[in-house]
Amino acid sequence: MDRIGLSLLFLFASTGCCVGSNILPLGPVDVIVGNNVTLNILPAKTSDDIIIWGFSNGEDPVNVATLRPNGVHVNDGYKGRASVNSTNGYLTLTSLRSQDTGDYTLTILTAGGDTLTGKIEVRVLDPVSSVVITSDLPEAIEHNSTVVLTCSSKGSLLTFTWTNNSNPIVSDGKRLTLTNEQSSSKLTIKDVLRYDLVGPIVCTATNKLERQSSAPFNLTVYYGPEDVIIKPSATSQYIPSKSDFNLTCSASSSPSATFTWFHDEKELKATGQVLTLKVIEEQGFGKNIGDYKCVAQNAKTKRAVPSAPVRFSVIEPISGVIFTGPTAVLIADNSTANLSCQASVGNVTDRVWLKDGKALSASSHIVFSSDSSSIFINMLKKEDNGKYTCQLINSVSKQEAHFLMVVNYGPESAEVKGKAEVKLEQPVEFTCTALSLPPAKITWRINGTVISGQTENVLILDKASYKDSGKYTCEASNAVTGRAATSSSYTLTVKEEIDEGLSDGAIAGIVIACLVAVAASIALFFYCRAKVPVSSPY
Ligand SMILES: *[C@@H]1O[C@H](CO)[C@@H](O)[C@H](O)[C@H]1NC(C)=O
Ligand SMILES: *[C@@H]1O[C@H](CO)[C@@H](O)[C@H](O)[C@H]1NC(C)=O
Ligand SMILES: *[C@@H]1O[C@H](CO)[C@@H](O)[C@H](O)[C@H]1NC(C)=O
Ligand SMILES: *[C@@H]1O[C@H](CO)[C@@H](O)[C@H](O)[C@H]1NC(C)=O
Ligand SMILES: *[C@@H]1O[C@H](CO)[C@@H](O)[C@H](O)[C@H]1NC(C)=O
Ligand SMILES: *[C@@H]1O[C@H](CO)[C@@H](O)[C@H](O)[C@H]1NC(C)=O
Ligand SMILES: *[C@@H]1O[C@H](CO)[C@@H](O)[C@H](O)[C@H]1NC(C)=O
Ligand SMILES: *[C@@H]1O[C@H](CO)[C@@H](O)[C@H](O)[C@H]1NC(C)=O
Ligand SMILES: *[C@@H]1O[C@H](CO)[C@@H](O)[C@H](O)[C@H]1NC(C)=O
Ligand SMILES: *[C@@H]1O[C@H](CO)[C@@H](O)[C@H](O)[C@H]1NC(C)=O
Repeated sequence: MDRIGLSLLFLFASTGCCVGSNILPLGPVDVIVGNNVTLNILPAKTSDDIIIWGFSNGEDPVNVATLRPNGVHVNDGYKGRASVNSTNGYLTLTSLRSQDTGDYTLTILTAGGDTLTGKIEVRVLDPVSSVVITSDLPEAIEHNSTVVLTCSSKGSLLTFTWTNNSNPIVSDGKRLTLTNEQSSSKLTIKDVLRYDLVGPIVCTATNKLERQSSAPFNLTVYYGPEDVIIKPSATSQYIPSKSDFNLTCSASSSPSATFTWFHDEKELKATGQVLTLKVIEEQGFGKNIGDYKCVAQNAKTKRAVPSAPVRFSVIEPISGVIFTGPTAVLIADNSTANLSCQASVGNVTDRVWLKDGKALSASSHIVFSSDSSSIFINMLKKEDNGKYTCQLINSVSKQEAHFLMVVNYGPESAEVKGKAEVKLEQPVEFTCTALSLPPAKITWRINGTVISGQTENVLILDKASYKDSGKYTCEASNAVTGRAATSSSYTLTVKEEIDEGLSDGAIAGIVIACLVAVAASIALFFYCRAKVPVSSPY
């Protein structure tokens, strides 16, 4: 006995520092409340071993159950909750409660007289539940707010992880800070940005046995306005009055921005994203060139951001062009004309005058008024007949009007053309040419006697007879100008047979031949002169 006692003491002394390291597995063993746990023994039990299971949670140790070769004894406090397998000595505890958390001790008294002891920690964990994310702010403002998200959960021995659209969130030491506490975790986001919290952000609480995730969380972060852009529907410095013109303002903003409008720092009575020209004009703006801008405002961020300016002036388009010209009958070399072109609406900046599509310019004949609104034609000539166009131009429009000027003139002369000779019974034709407006009234005469019934400028005799020979003249007269002209007389001879004479070609040939001959003789003359020796008078 003494020897045994000594050897036991020795064993305790030599193994006291590391008991349990070899007869029980390494703990701790975690179990959820209400569940069962079986504590295994590492060395195989022999049938004569005595197995003693005890429990200690810092207070006095208590016995749980003892297995002797003759049977199992379960202590009163554990009746119905604890059992020991008589074959292997494993302790099974059922329906675990939080109070069961603590160290379970095992003492094995071997048949050989050895005492083996071990200890294993069992932790009875509350289940993980009610994982929720809450924010300290109901809504946040970009760059301004520091948002603290708290993830809380029921359960024991929790660790928390955060994910942002499935990606883990980690502290960056600057804007993002994670702070873990007993049963919660805080994610602090300094100077929050608009995309920080759209996530979805999920928090997961975990212990050794369980994990539960929160519902996806997101928080609206209000931002802007930014990128405030003003866009005119037409990019011109001059906008036609009453046209379908407008300015549209846009901004990136949450919530959507509201807009106010300014003309050279003066606020217009207008709201909304679109400012129409109608509103600009109704409020009397636009007459003078000026800068327009919009200011975008965000009710949540309380920020107001102006757009760049757009510069333009509103110009009345020209309309109601009236072209006035002389109404009296005009006579060349006797009348003058004053043409005037005016617009009833619009400020004209440029006037262009055209005649038959070609630009007119000032001359001694045509005098332009100082503002070019009228032209004065000194003494009308027949060349002044034509279609006159005036163009009135300003920066937003170009209008034109026409005036057809009729200058009556002539006839200044009359001329008869026709054959000099005609064969008996052949037709013959005379033409009287006399420039005149309106066309001249023609009177034909033979030998000074009026040929009655012939008032056209072409006189046709179907069959020439001898009595048609004679001196023909035509008289042209213009009732409007009061002028008349008589042609020189033209002699027609009617013959039985007419000498065709030389053709035009033959005449031309003879003329050329004569010229060549003359040229040759002149050349010969000079040639001979050069060859004759001339004696010097000295
Ligand atoms: C615990 O053990 C008891 C008895 O063996 C059994 O009825 C019960 O279902 C077990 N509980 C669990 C959670 O396994
Ligand atoms: C006891 O353990 C033995 C061997 O591991 C096993 O076969 C048996 O089923 C166990 N008995 C009970 C009641 O669990
Ligand atoms: C979540 O992810 C988005 C997209 O990658 C990122 O912009 C945002 O900053 C992240 N938020 C946090 C809190 O990490
Ligand atoms: C944010 O949460 C709201 C409800 O709270 C949901 O309607 C919305 O779809 C969520 N947005 C994202 C990007 O998850
Ligand atoms: C703005 O002007 C454009 C182009 O003239 C036109 O298509 C659009 O309908 C206008 N919008 C409004 C609201 O007047
Ligand atoms: C944002 O922060 C600035 C300075 O920190 C403060 O003056 C301003 O009032 C804040 N804006 C809002 C909407 O809280
Ligand atoms: C020409 O003008 C003068 C007066 O300027 C006038 O007496 C005369 O009748 C005019 N001649 C014609 C042909 O109209
Ligand atoms: C031509 O007419 C305009 C307008 O009717 C007038 O102002 C101008 O004095 C006139 N010019 C001449 C030379 O008659
Ligand atoms: C027309 O132009 C003149 C000079 O440029 C200016 O003084 C005047 O106000 C303008 N009138 C209108 C109706 O635009
Ligand atoms: C015209 O005079 C010519 C000669 O002078 C004469 O031969 C001819 O018959 C006259 N014609 C008429 C119609 O009198």
